[in-house]
Parts: sequence; C-alpha cells; structure tokens
Amino acid sequence: MTLSNLTDTPFKDFVSAEQVDEKSALALINRAEDFKAGQTVHFPEPIYAANLFFENSTRTHTSFEMAERKLGMTVIPFDPAHSSVSKGETLEDTIKTIGAIGVNIAVMRHSKDGYYKELMGAWPTTAIVNAGDGAGQHPSQMMLDLMTIHEEFGHFDGLNIGIVGDLSHSRVARSDMQMLHKLGATLHFAGPQQWYDPSFDRYGDFISVPDLVKQVDVLMLLRVQLERFNADNREAFSKESYHAKYGITDALAKTMKPNAIFMHPAPVNRDVELASDLVDGPRSRIFTQMQNGVFMRMAMLEAVINARHFGEE
Ligand code: CP
Repeated sequence: MTLSNLTDTPFKDFVSAEQVDEKSALALINRAEDFKAGQTVHFPEPIYAANLFFENSTRTHTSFEMAERKLGMTVIPFDPAHSSVSKGETLEDTIKTIGAIGVNIAVMRHSKDGYYKELMGAWPTTAIVNAGDGAGQHPSQMMLDLMTIHEEFGHFDGLNIGIVGDLSHSRVARSDMQMLHKLGATLHFAGPQQWYDPSFDRYGDFISVPDLVKQVDVLMLLRVQLERFNADNREAFSKESYHAKYGITDALAKTMKPNAIFMHPAPVNRDVELASDLVDGPRSRIFTQMQNGVFMRMAMLEAVINARHFGEE
C-alpha cells in the first residue's frame, strides 16, 4: 500500500486500535520505515500542534514533539497545570478554545477512559490524537510496537507473542492484544490472576509465566502501575515478591527461544518486571521501541494531516 492510499483511511482523528485494519497498519509501518530511513516531507502551509498531557509522560510527549518538529509542524506550548482546566474549564471547551486559536492537531493524554469520544468534532478543524486514555487505549504505543516486531520478524502471522503483568490496568496491553490478534499473531497472557480480565480470552490464553517464556518469539512485559492501584493491590506485592513470582529473572530468560526478544512500553521498574541487566541486554528492544516511536508518530500524524487536507495550499 502506498502513502496515497493512506489518505483514504479514516484517520481524521487517531484514537483507538479499532480504527486500524491490517492494510492501514502495514501502510503506517512502511511509512514509518521510510522516515527512519531518512525520508522527509514538506507541507506548503503551516500546521499547528498542541500536546495536552494531563498525565505524566516522558516518552510519548517528547516523541510526539520530536515527530511534529521533524514534520515541520509548529508546536504550541500547553501546560495543563497552568491552563484554565484548573479553573474548571471542560476538556471540550479547551479543545474549542485551542481550535479557535488555530491549533490543527491536539495530541492528548488523560486519565479518563474514552475521553476522546466527547472531543472528536468539538472543533471542526482540530483533530484529536490519543496519547493514552486511562486504562483504555494507547494507539501510538501500539503502532510503534507493531513496527518494532515487524522490523525484527517481517511478519505477524504465526508469531507467538506473550504479554505479562498488569493486564487489566494497561492501555498498552488492551490496544496491542486487539491489533496483534487482528494481524494473526498467537497471543498468550501471564501474571497475577487478579490482573487478568476474562474478556481477554477472545484474544489468547492465560498460562503460567514459565510456560509462556519458553514458547514466545516476543515477550512483552508491562509496568506494574503502582499509581493506579488501590491499597489492597499495593499490599499484595512487594517489588521483590512480584519479581520472584511473575518477573523475568536471569534464570528464566535462559529458557527463551534463541531469537526471542523482550519488549516493554517503559518506564521499566528495573528488577521488578525484568532483571535490570536484561533491560540493556542483547534480547532487549526497549530502546529500539522508543527510537521507532518518533518515526511511527510521524507516520500517524502525516496520516491525520492528509486525511484532513491540512498543510495544503
Ligand atoms: N510508554 C509510555 O507511554 O511512556 P510515557 O508514559 O513516558 O509516555
């Protein structure tokens, strides 16, 4: 699929795995690989972006900003702590406001599941790109994960992919399992039973961590999200007990298939989800994921720009 076909896909906003089919996923991966290989793009008219991060972020925020700048977009600073949301302004009025001021693309992260449903179309010339909603979706992480797997193996069909850890709190797990299942991968899940939701059964099976580790090509670890826990969960695990029971120790890593890789959306709790030396070891693609994130976010933003005809004379 060429870039021009991408303009036919419904990326007027980019908010969820549900929007992405196999064809558009592969087109976005190809385009991100073009950007990684050094291709550039020029838009004749200015395009303005604002990054509205109501939850903390290192990777996604800086990566979107890098992608915007590499595409030649103008980034309008937005600091949630000093915005009028703190005075009670609604998110919808915030989008209408930045839209009226001239922002074309609002990249947003917010703790409310599905926040974007009320904001798409709030201002007709402002697109919403979801940088993570509560425990809902994280489409740009999903797409950079697909790119990293594709770069390694060249296909998805028939790959065995394991996702381990805090599945029920994880927007990354939710987006990735939906998309990888669509692309023909065989999925396995593991971790604490209380962090598994039976609704995930449609995408894969729930097995023990040692059984999963020895059969997968891609081992995706999820961060233990202490900030989303209630007191009961916090008391259930210490870092040490989690690592011993559900983490990837050096001994467990030795049981992996010869070409299997580790992935993690990060930030990593070193020596909790994964032994610290494995984070930097030869099987790790964790920093490759971050590098790929810039190029994939360029491809996603370009798809939105093209779908909306921004930047045209
Ligand atoms: N992977 C991820 O979303 O990281 P940040 O929270 O740092 O953006």
